[in-house]
Amino acid sequence: MTKQKRVLSGIQPSGLMTIGNYIGAIRQFVAMQHDYDSYFMIVDMHAITVPQDPEKLREQTESLAAVYLACGIDPEKATLFLQSQVRAHAMLGWMMTTLTYMGELERMTQFKDKSAGKESIGTGLFVYPSLMAADILLYDSDLVPVGDDQTQHLELTRDLAHRFNQRYGDTFVVPEGHFTEVGARIMSLVDGTKKMSKSDPNPNAFISLLDEPDVIRKKVSRATTDSGREIVFDRENKPEVSNLLEILSAFSGQSIKALEAQYEGQGYGAFKKDVAEAIVATLAPIQERYRDIRASGELHDVLKRGAEKASVVAEATLRRAMERMGFVQP
Ligand code: AMP
Ligand code: TRP
Repeated sequence: MTKQKRVLSGIQPSGLMTIGNYIGAIRQFVAMQHDYDSYFMIVDMHAITVPQDPEKLREQTESLAAVYLACGIDPEKATLFLQSQVRAHAMLGWMMTTLTYMGELERMTQFKDKSAGKESIGTGLFVYPSLMAADILLYDSDLVPVGDDQTQHLELTRDLAHRFNQRYGDTFVVPEGHFTEVGARIMSLVDGTKKMSKSDPNPNAFISLLDEPDVIRKKVSRATTDSGREIVFDRENKPEVSNLLEILSAFSGQSIKALEAQYEGQGYGAFKKDVAEAIVATLAPIQERYRDIRASGELHDVLKRGAEKASVVAEATLRRAMERMGFVQP
């Protein structure tokens, strides 16, 4: 039997997850856990590269872990853990930082975006990509599912793996990016040309995975639509209607073609109702499981076991890399 390929991804605990995150990321992780040796971590050490309120960080971290479990990540199949509970990340992160050139980090568009217009920029934000490289290399990851905004970071990870292997001998697996499906780009409910984002100042622009059913219904019924009547997929001329079709397709499992046929001759009202109900039908059981998980106190156990499992793999890789670099071993 060939060895299962290993998949790893990291998610920032930066507040609410939207249905965009669900369709574009979480749902795919849930599917991948059956076919791959899967590691999903919550990157709380990356979160502190911008100022965080400690209470909020704690709450958001626990909430995100519970969301993952509620959405179907099975701790018997996948290893779910917090980055900060596997100390090897800090050590290999530092080792990777020393291998990274200033010019490589200066080119990173995420750094440019996040630092634009700010006065005091933490050094951590600058060296963030070196830590991300360590996250990935510690687990000999074959595949890293991420959004296309992470392309540059993944390229750097591959460069650093090659650089280390060349200087110190073959040590790291060079990972491949696994860019989430094209088309899996859910747009704002208010402006169909903007990506749906939890950081949108207008809460009507996104649906959070934890929005109550009536809030979901309200947001969908108020979603922007054009002045036409036709329910057809045309990103260019009907971006909002196309987005709603894409959402309904994702939540109902029906193809966009079938939906176009089904709604031919019908107005936006009935269509929007069905979109809302399809979202509610998927999210209601997730929300129920979320509440159970938060109330049960099982989360700490799951994360502790996850960190223990992850540490075994990470420590072994770290030891190998430290030896190669010339650190005296105990
Ligand atoms: P972010 O919330 O931007 O850190 O993204 C976390 C993950 O969710 C990435 O893999 C993104 O590609 C995915 N994601 C975020 N927003 C959307 C969206 N509106 N549509 C599809 N996928 C998304
Ligand atoms: N930088 C990623 C993001 O902003 C999060 C991340 C940190 C990550 N470490 C990772 C993703 C390792 C994949 C693998 O979305």
